[in-house]
Amino acid sequence: VSGDGLPEEALWLRRQVRDLAGWHDMTSRVAAEIGAAVAEIRGPAAAAELRRLGLERLHEVIDARDIAALRDRVLGRLRQPLLKMAVAVGRDFIGWSGDFFVDDYLILRINFPYEVARRADPAAENPGLGRLSESVRALFQARKTIDPLYDPRSYHRGHPPAAWVHGPHRDSWVGHSREGRNVWWAIGDVPAEAGFVRYPSLTGVNLPRDPRTLCLRDGYPLPKPDGLSLRAGEMLVFDPEVLHGTHLNTSGVTRVVVTMRLDAGPPAFDPGCFYAFEFWRRAHDIEQGRDVVLHLRREEHLSPMVEVTPDPPRGALPLGQGTFDPTSGIWRGRLEGETEPARRGIVTAGGRRVLVARTDDGLRAYDAACPHYGRDLADGGSDGDTLYCPACGVRFDLRTGTSGCPSLTLHALRVWESDGILHVKLDP
Ligand SMILES: [Fe+2]
Repeated sequence: VSGDGLPEEALWLRRQVRDLAGWHDMTSRVAAEIGAAVAEIRGPAAAAELRRLGLERLHEVIDARDIAALRDRVLGRLRQPLLKMAVAVGRDFIGWSGDFFVDDYLILRINFPYEVARRADPAAENPGLGRLSESVRALFQARKTIDPLYDPRSYHRGHPPAAWVHGPHRDSWVGHSREGRNVWWAIGDVPAEAGFVRYPSLTGVNLPRDPRTLCLRDGYPLPKPDGLSLRAGEMLVFDPEVLHGTHLNTSGVTRVVVTMRLDAGPPAFDPGCFYAFEFWRRAHDIEQGRDVVLHLRREEHLSPMVEVTPDPPRGALPLGQGTFDPTSGIWRGRLEGETEPARRGIVTAGGRRVLVARTDDGLRAYDAACPHYGRDLADGGSDGDTLYCPACGVRFDLRTGTSGCPSLTLHALRVWESDGILHVKLDP
């Protein structure tokens, strides 16, 4: 239950593949199937190149448009052995002895580095999508519902799907069972800058979901996220009701991960989400080689509707008190904390929000919008002079405005202090 640098929490498990029979071979088998699929899609020379470069450089061998076909081939061939591994996790890691449920929806997540992904074809499929068994795909399509409020494209602000990231959420917010357990299994090495972020300190807090994005609503300040790196073959088993999201891949490597979901009992869906993952298998069927997919209809598996009022946000940054002169473009004022001048705060002037920070290197001011999705950085967790985007998890150094990604740099503004008064100069 404990791992390198991980908090000791019963629901978070980190183990090496070798702890579980068959996992090491299965990790290699997934990687080998990816190689075989590359050979079919791009030819044998591309597959040979991938063997030379390693899975982490898959983006040098295939294009974002190839991901959908690649995923179809790999999951098509490996569905049964992957489902068997999901059952082994339930039995040997979690300790379920009887029958239980395994989601038929499997995901092979192939996420290119952001600098590559941002130039990808806008028509290429979202690499976060999974696949159901062939036998239920038509039924799944027929059950699809459209929600008038849900608008993921505007959230992703024109980025191609290859550069999308999943903001902070609980899985029941996005149609998964409330009582599930997730398996997040690294097929290649996953650096923390391409991994997973979670906010365990918000466990038990009632959080507001934004119906447009199915992620945490704006205006809700987050603590510093926990992130972690995984070596190829390692897996996480976690409670998906702990607020979590994906870190925009600001590393130089492609992230290749398989995700699977389990539930001790039949799924319980949140009535607040307009759709649900309805196709499940039973552990006993999988173990005995029976190819049976159950259709557990959303309307028959809703958990009781509990009206919950979100807890009030905590730790919002103070707002600067001052005046803005549109002619000079200068805002003058103060940033007061509860007891002393605040180390960080938000200045609103000329229709803009500016983040002002006292760093170890002096005073800094930046546009408060993350250059990725434009999310307001005032909601982001921090650690000293490091600030984390509340949507994509990217780490900004407030002394320089830079992140690990050259194209994601905060827009700096002039700021100075004279006679105890802050001055911020807004550029046009
Ligand atoms: Fe999730």
